[in-house]
Amino acid sequence: MRSDRTPFVLCLVAVLPTAYGGGGGSASSPPVPQVATPSFSVSAGNYTTLQSVAISDSTAGATIHYTTDSSVPTASSTLYAAPIPVATNTTIKALATDSGYTDSSVASATYSINLPAAPPIAAVTDIHQGFIYQIVTDRFFNGDTSNDNPPQSPGLFDSNGFANSAEADWNLYWGGDLAGIQQKLGYLKSMGAAGIWISPPVDNIRVSAGSSNGETGYHGYWPRDMMQIDEHFGDDANSWTAFDNLVAAAHADGIKVFVDFVANHTNPIGVGEDGSLYNNGTLLVTYSTDTGANPYYHHNPPIADFDDRYQVQYYTLEGLADLDQTNPSVDQYLKAAVTQFLAHGADGFRFDAVKDVNWGWEYSLENTIANWTGSPALPTSTERPFLFGEWAEGSGDALYPDSVKFSNNSGINLLDYPLYYQIADVFGSDKSFHEIDNELTLEDSGASSSPAQPFAQPNDLVTFFDNHDNPRILSLGADQMAVKQAISFLLTCRGIPVLYYGDEQYLHNNTNGGTIPYNRNAMTSFSSTDAVLLIQYLAALRAANPAAAYGTMNQRWINDDVYIYERDFGTNTFLIAINKNPSVDQAITGLYTDLPPGSYADYLAQTMGGTGIVVNGSAGGNNAVADFTLPHRSVSIWASAAAGSPSIGSVTPRVANPGATVSIEGAGFGATAGTVSFAVGSSMLSATITAWSDRQITATVPALAGGSAALTVTQGTATSAPAPFTVSTSALIPVNFSISGTPALASSDVLMLSGSVGELGNWATSWNGALGPVAIPTSGSGLLTVSVPNGARVEFKFFILHGDGSVSWENGANHSFTVPQTGVGAATVSWQN
Ligand code: NOJ
Ligand code: NOJ
Repeated sequence: MRSDRTPFVLCLVAVLPTAYGGGGGSASSPPVPQVATPSFSVSAGNYTTLQSVAISDSTAGATIHYTTDSSVPTASSTLYAAPIPVATNTTIKALATDSGYTDSSVASATYSINLPAAPPIAAVTDIHQGFIYQIVTDRFFNGDTSNDNPPQSPGLFDSNGFANSAEADWNLYWGGDLAGIQQKLGYLKSMGAAGIWISPPVDNIRVSAGSSNGETGYHGYWPRDMMQIDEHFGDDANSWTAFDNLVAAAHADGIKVFVDFVANHTNPIGVGEDGSLYNNGTLLVTYSTDTGANPYYHHNPPIADFDDRYQVQYYTLEGLADLDQTNPSVDQYLKAAVTQFLAHGADGFRFDAVKDVNWGWEYSLENTIANWTGSPALPTSTERPFLFGEWAEGSGDALYPDSVKFSNNSGINLLDYPLYYQIADVFGSDKSFHEIDNELTLEDSGASSSPAQPFAQPNDLVTFFDNHDNPRILSLGADQMAVKQAISFLLTCRGIPVLYYGDEQYLHNNTNGGTIPYNRNAMTSFSSTDAVLLIQYLAALRAANPAAAYGTMNQRWINDDVYIYERDFGTNTFLIAINKNPSVDQAITGLYTDLPPGSYADYLAQTMGGTGIVVNGSAGGNNAVADFTLPHRSVSIWASAAAGSPSIGSVTPRVANPGATVSIEGAGFGATAGTVSFAVGSSMLSATITAWSDRQITATVPALAGGSAALTVTQGTATSAPAPFTVSTSALIPVNFSISGTPALASSDVLMLSGSVGELGNWATSWNGALGPVAIPTSGSGLLTVSVPNGARVEFKFFILHGDGSVSWENGANHSFTVPQTGVGAATVSWQN
């Protein structure tokens, strides 16, 4: 456009004097023409759907500037480039300019937008059917000013935080607390949040760590005492009262509470409290006094190579005292802290930095939680604790295959960081939808060129597009419509979505590109924005249509700007179409769907500018959609839900011992109890049922031998497809398997371990079937923690897995080891030549 325009302007300037007869010497100047007044593609007035307002001007080559805040536009107002999405009451004022002309008159149009309310959001019992709202407690709401500047940690509070963050120190406490979250539960419930993830609430260091270290633990990731609640979030006594009150109120509102828990480390070394660790008020150790025979901490250098399996687990992350989870005291302490949260009603955990914690030990942490029978035994309704962990890397990273193996086998689901990078890129930086689509194919179907398996349970991955560690997409370049499109994608993609607090209020601060701490903004508004309305629609869809919680994800039509995909679960389906192009409507031809024939109105009632479709014919899951036009910058959803036969969507936990309680979630189970069966090999046993409804069953794992099981639900004559489940033989004990004297490894070799029980791979020799790859502390040695059944006598051997899949075992007889009943074990051997 601009290249057409430039010659025209030059020509105009050249022509004007002649055209107006200015031959020189004329006394009166010719009249200067005025640019035509801009006009709007949509008439001013009242609307109940999202409008897209284009502005044009009949003076060829004119430039249009506009405002949406009622101020009078000038030549320095926003340059008009593409139609403006109008979702709330808005007055657009526009001015057109051109050189050689006087500016146009100002055009003004006022739009009153009353978008229809979302359908009611059904109560959900399974977190898959909803979304999690992530809160940095200190930055959300100050519900109790008496804990702002507590006596045991004075001077770490900045009262400017919520009042005037531009003047505040972003590394100090700002006053948000657990009581504040409790006071805003009504807001969260009305938006449809099924759970909240709160930043670590435990006691953090009580003094500054110095400005070069980020000063305070307002974020919660610098714990000193994991048995107590921080005085800034609770009360001066570090009691559990505020936490208990929040959990009770959240549960009364049907909202689950997921606690961020740090098992990797305590707090900064050499500053502040020097890695202090307290047990319910009693000092156990600091980093520099940790000189006993059995150290609490690893005393290793900073992690330099994040692709090195030994460094990530055993070296120092961010200067923080790195706990040795296989020190029996630390193991016992961390498990006591986690189960104390369960006893206080936590519905699950977000585990911090699971890539940096001892991976094998984390299996025993999951086992402790999965088999925990304390009170309250079943935290909320009938769902067992849901666990997810942070493994912050992309699918191109060296340890991505290890992350998939961990997620598939440990029972701890991962935050979907690999997908996050693509979502942020597509919606934050307007990149191609192929980035997301290719990533989903890799994660859900696996790659032939790497040992990475597909994620076995993609709907258990926890998805997000913003968080407390990365710039909000508004700081990357997204506008409000792009944020709403990201929300639309996230809440309809496979996985359990997490929305970061404040995105629905378009909260952001672009200082330093919106990186830490400028992404941990003070939540200053709780209003009913158009984004809140959109979230309500999507929460209603998730609660009503099991395809959102458990469905497969099938791409149906794609180009750089248009993404149409379908979710399918049993007889439940929906199709969603996103067009992010700023101005081009897309003709959609050749689209097929599993939706039954019929006319479909947009589930979002055109609040996102969408459209309806017609589905023709009945071609068994591949019905033709009549050609239609997908409006620019729109989202449409077409949904169908129908009762069907039993289908299992998820099992929580996915790994547990006989006797443990599991939640089985899905659809079509029927109103009255049928049968749940577990099969391991050729033995199949029915489970004792403790609760049964159409969408959720609670059952007890029967007394089977350990191993991979197939779980089925039978109602009448219909039996579900099997869902995978892993039976652990008994309580799992972390054992450090270490070896010395190993042969030199070629660059394509890895050291592996296999042995006589399921937890040791049952003598499998494949990358995915055996245990490992083993961490290499120094060349010629290996160290791998594996959580194995207590009291078991296991046999094992190390072996080298070569790049071509061939195997070199150690020679000689199998090593054997008897696993202790409690605590931690150590099996130390030399390579048998
Ligand atoms: C990841 C957390 O999300 C981040 O905020 C923190 O600094 C590190 N882990 C260390 O705890
Ligand atoms: C590993 C190796 O020692 C191999 O030779 C043996 O067959 C299996 N263990 C099973 O004992």
